[in-house]
Amino acid sequence: MALHRLSAITVGVPNPVETGDYYAEFGLARAADGWFRTRDGGDQLRIVHAPTRRLLEARIGADDPDDLGAAAARLRRLGVEPVLAGTELTAVEPVTGVRAVLRVEPRILQEAVAPTPYNGPGRVDRPGVRAPGVLRTDPIRPRKLGHAVLGTTDAAATIAFFRDGLGFRTSDLMGNVGAFLRCSTDHHNILVLQAPVSFLHHTSWQVDDVDDVGRGAMAMLEGRPERHVWGLGRHHAGSNFFWYLKDPAGNFSEYYSDMDSIPEDAPWTPEVFEGAKGLFNWGPPPPPSFINPEDLAALMTDAHT
Ligand SMILES: [Fe+2]
Repeated sequence: MALHRLSAITVGVPNPVETGDYYAEFGLARAADGWFRTRDGGDQLRIVHAPTRRLLEARIGADDPDDLGAAAARLRRLGVEPVLAGTELTAVEPVTGVRAVLRVEPRILQEAVAPTPYNGPGRVDRPGVRAPGVLRTDPIRPRKLGHAVLGTTDAAATIAFFRDGLGFRTSDLMGNVGAFLRCSTDHHNILVLQAPVSFLHHTSWQVDDVDDVGRGAMAMLEGRPERHVWGLGRHHAGSNFFWYLKDPAGNFSEYYSDMDSIPEDAPWTPEVFEGAKGLFNWGPPPPPSFINPEDLAALMTDAHT
């Protein structure tokens, strides 16, 4: 695959200071110029001021300058004029206004974390000791950015931009209203969803295991129950454990673990999921505000003024 990672995102919010404090508490480390850093992925989130919350930019790592030339040709066939400068290609997705930046970058190799010992029937992986998940006291610090989810008023056009233009691959589909797209071996790095207005639905951050999904969310909810959105559960598409919280600008942020991985040479057949199946396999039912965030009407009004 020419593309190999979702490197970084820039999110615009009306309240960058408050929102930055939230992501520092979420476990991202503050870096220079509004950037926030993960343990394995480097500077991966930049928070800047914008009149309403939105995804401004997504940076995607590519292997080779030739990959940028090929993407430029494909984008032109879609009627999008990219800017190609050295080892960087910039193109604006016409529906959402998201700026995509393809950059020739080295791949990241995550150091393997030892598997968490879980006891099972006839199998004791943890003799004579309590579970690590109940003993851990260290605060959660996400390993890397996993994915961003974009609401768009024209899913077909936005999917075409990422898939047919930039070169993302399709992992699964949600009827004809959404596509799970990957630019790495993760099941999805961008999920495009049909919506009444273009907006950033959520960003998702990898932690070590399901215990850390739970520990991270519980720590964020201590004294702040209004941050809870949806969790704990396991998605069907992508299989990951999830727990969604809400940042002070209204964007959802997800802790996840155990997502499906699709190596470049692995056989994978995309499936089309209808209704709730694409959304989750088990867990509490999603609140209506997960599908239609509470500020959606306000975002629609802002989009038309
Ligand atoms: Fe997600």
